Amino acid sequence: MITFAGVTKRYPDGTVAVDRLDLEIPAGRITVLVGPSGCGKTTTLRMINRMVEPSAGTVTVDGRDVREVDPAALRRGIGYVIQQAGLFPHRTIIDNIATVPYLLGWDKKKARARAHELMERVGLDPALARRYPAQLSGGQQQRVGVARALAADPPIMLMDEPFSAVDPIVRAGLQEEFLRLQRDLEKTIVFVTHDIDEAVKLGHRIAVFRVGGALAQYATPAELLERPADDFVTDFLGGERGIRRLRFFQELDAEETAAEAAGAGDAAGEDEGGRTAAAGR
Ligand SMILES: Nc1ncnc2c1ncn2[C@@H]1O[C@H](COP(=O)(O)OP(=O)(O)OP(=O)(O)O)[C@@H](O)[C@H]1O
Ligand SMILES: [Mg+2]
Repeated sequence: MITFAGVTKRYPDGTVAVDRLDLEIPAGRITVLVGPSGCGKTTTLRMINRMVEPSAGTVTVDGRDVREVDPAALRRGIGYVIQQAGLFPHRTIIDNIATVPYLLGWDKKKARARAHELMERVGLDPALARRYPAQLSGGQQQRVGVARALAADPPIMLMDEPFSAVDPIVRAGLQEEFLRLQRDLEKTIVFVTHDIDEAVKLGHRIAVFRVGGALAQYATPAELLERPADDFVTDFLGGERGIRRLRFFQELDAEETAAEAAGAGDAAGEDEGGRTAAAGR
């Protein structure tokens, strides 16, 4: 579990990016930080791996104050994925993915074997191993970014708008694959997006921030859509569109109830269909 207790970040120029944040991020789940540009999502994420130090308050990972952990050691245990993947342009794909294992002193053969295994996991053709990042599509580069973050099997992954640089169709595919991967891996994932649809699709829990870095609401997707805390959250959910999404959740609930009443079997298949149809909305 990751906790923020009374965390404020004030940058040297006086900008308050995060304002007295209290947040408990559960282990083994996807928690999404969402909100308009400049509301402090990236700053919040970077306080977990000490790329940014809080001005006040405490961040803990599994009960341990991150200030007590050497930043380099901390970062090796926390995968980090950013927009545009942030790959090393002069290293091959295989060596990009093996970056952290190399840093950890694994021998080259073992590190590359691990990198090959991960390419398969994230749906990359092994034939791409010896290419350079510029020779890959945007979606493939994002997959490499995810594979690189997974390389040392860190229990925690920080993902900052990892899928926002690709077109909507590639993006939907990456989201689906990511959910499938997470079903197996059960990492503690903190995922930043400014897209409420992505948040609802991926998050077990969603933290909505407002500009100025205050937490507006922290809830499950269904709770958020059903009971927005205030007008800001309602607007952010998108008025009418929010209401449509809420209907979708209510229908899902109704289907689940019907499925339970009817026993397993066919009804479960319909439920899957419902989710797939909604994912394309
Ligand atoms: N190094 C810095 N020095 C001063 N102000 C900063 C610094 N980094 C970020 N900020 C400011 O802090 C606030 C929060 O920035 P942050 O990058 O955390 O927002 P964000 O929610 O990730 O935004 P976006 O959706 O645009 O990525 C913004 O007002 C930003 O201008
Ligand atoms: Mg950001």
